[in-house]
Amino acid sequence: MSEAEAKTRIDYLKQEIAKHNKAYYVEDAPLISDFEYDALMEELKSLERAFPQFLDPDSPTQKVGGEALPAFATVHHPQPLLSLENAFSRDDIEAFITRLQKAGLTSLAFTVEPKMDGLTLSISYKNGKFSAAATRGDGITGENVTANAKAIKAIPRKLKENIAELTVRGEAYMPKHIFAELNTEREENGESLFANPRNAAAGSLRQLDPKITASRRLSIFCYDIISSQGFAPISQQQLLTGLSDLGLPVNPERRLCYTVDDIMEYIEEISTKRHKLPYDIDGMVIKLDNIANRASLGATGKFPRWAIAYKFPPEQAETTVENIIIGVGRTGAMTPSAVLTPVFLAGSTISRTTLHNEDNIKDKDIRIGDRVLIQKAGDVIPEVVKVLKDKRTGTEQQFVMPINCPECGTPSIRPVGEAVRRCPNVYCPARLYESIVHFVSKNAMDIDGMGPSVVKTLLDNGLIHHIDDLYHLDKSAIIALPGFGELSADNLLRSIEKSKQQPLSRILFALGIRHVGERAGKVLSSHFADIDDLIAADEDSLNSIPEIGPVIAKSIVDFFHEERNLLLIERLKNSGLNFHGEKNTVSDDLPLSGQVFVISGTLPGMSRDEAKDLIERNGGKTSSSVSKKTSYLLLGANPGSKFDKAQSLGIPTITIEELQQRLNK
Ligand code: IVH
Repeated sequence: MSEAEAKTRIDYLKQEIAKHNKAYYVEDAPLISDFEYDALMEELKSLERAFPQFLDPDSPTQKVGGEALPAFATVHHPQPLLSLENAFSRDDIEAFITRLQKAGLTSLAFTVEPKMDGLTLSISYKNGKFSAAATRGDGITGENVTANAKAIKAIPRKLKENIAELTVRGEAYMPKHIFAELNTEREENGESLFANPRNAAAGSLRQLDPKITASRRLSIFCYDIISSQGFAPISQQQLLTGLSDLGLPVNPERRLCYTVDDIMEYIEEISTKRHKLPYDIDGMVIKLDNIANRASLGATGKFPRWAIAYKFPPEQAETTVENIIIGVGRTGAMTPSAVLTPVFLAGSTISRTTLHNEDNIKDKDIRIGDRVLIQKAGDVIPEVVKVLKDKRTGTEQQFVMPINCPECGTPSIRPVGEAVRRCPNVYCPARLYESIVHFVSKNAMDIDGMGPSVVKTLLDNGLIHHIDDLYHLDKSAIIALPGFGELSADNLLRSIEKSKQQPLSRILFALGIRHVGERAGKVLSSHFADIDDLIAADEDSLNSIPEIGPVIAKSIVDFFHEERNLLLIERLKNSGLNFHGEKNTVSDDLPLSGQVFVISGTLPGMSRDEAKDLIERNGGKTSSSVSKKTSYLLLGANPGSKFDKAQSLGIPTITIEELQQRLNK
């Protein structure tokens, strides 16, 4: 390659990498796979090595990562949060070990850990209490995401020991099943999908509203100490056990290895069970176990010399698009799917994949008969990465999105600015079928024995026309259905009967109210005494409930504005379903059960409503006046006459901090 050619290629690669950095770090929506990104980086690095005259400090090969988002306050990390050098083979790992030996280290031991595919966070504790959290950003400065980190349950507010200062590094991630749920819901709602759990985690953390972060149920694994006073482990093994003893979540999956053979064996073991893990990993991290020896090795600007990241090769498969069909979901969304020649990929056989919407088909130019490359987003949802256009024979057919609903023939609508086309007919048989399948599903009413094929048989034979018909099925009519006998009919009726006991949280999810997932169902049912209270609630009061944002609030109000939905609730009530919320139910096993609190004065860092909510969620009650029945006076700044009265009755006081401490134990 001539110098001029190298310069052109280097400029091009830098531009491409800058574009992809922005898509990945700032927009949380990558345009290419990690593997393709790594390949661009590797090519740039090797060109810069061959033509050092073109290496400048601004090159992406010289920087650690993304850039901080302007919406959050900037945090300067006390020490740079370094990244890791990549290894792609056994040879690369051997070379890493050789470098350590050449640096004079003998009798080496390594801790090998899964490389979580998430978002790096630094989390600080002062005197054992959570104090701040920041994203990595470019490694030097990150974003202050303290408020959002508080919304992650996996991050303890308090450590089990009051050590003076501790800042840990960890990877926040979205468990695979939550990612799958979230994207299914987003697809139904016509919202853009997250490419993978990592982007979903990053998108969830960089929300201006912590409620949204809370609703996304992120988790975290901690794996390093950034700074500490009062905690100085001597090895990575001790560090991880120590963090775990302090109450921080640490990945139980890790191994002490001594040789490259040990390391490769463990990598092999994890890579075979990788798809069964509940979280996404993209490789394994190999760390020098001895912490004192790390300091002597130092870092190379961007990477520490004591660790290396082995990256798994991408898992993709090639197959043929045999057909493109349209499914109609319960909200009427008409979603195209590709019927594929079955192919084994990342732990399962794939014969179908969603194509999301007509624009995606057009953008990727996917045609019936095409050879395509597929991969799994977040190890779960298969997707078409690209069409192998070189393999076209000319017989491929372009796909035309039908204008009418394929199920009921109603002309579909596609609102301006939305990618999803919908069947507007609320009585569309496909919508009814999907609504019932959802209603009876495991996480909703959990009607055992009523799978999609049974729902279809019941509908096809005219036994059900509405959801509530499920509760008025006639045994002899079921027996008469193909595939049913006396015993199976009895079993089915028994599970239907049992489902009447399901709590309100499940009914709310089962009803298929847009944006109301399982979590929102639980939050709502713990907030209302019964469904009538919920129906009567307006948008503002719904919006003031923790974890319920304006979108969910509006959707609930819209749902209960529709006459037919109110009618459905009425019918389900008459069928004997349990519409009572959990608001006033006293549970004996909650930490504050049986205790009555009176709040006096201004509480630091918490509104009265929030304090009330905290008490009630933990089984306690609140009252506005002090009496002999009061268990504690929750004391804030500048208390009024309630304090004097409590004193005279000998009622103990408690501060909000003490209360929180008690609840965290
Ligand atoms: S150690 C200074 N351990 O992978 C060394 N990193 O490609 C700190 N990662 O930037 C990194 N799981 O965000 C380490 N068990 C693990 C990890 C891990 C995921 C991330 C981390 C790092 C990136 C490097």
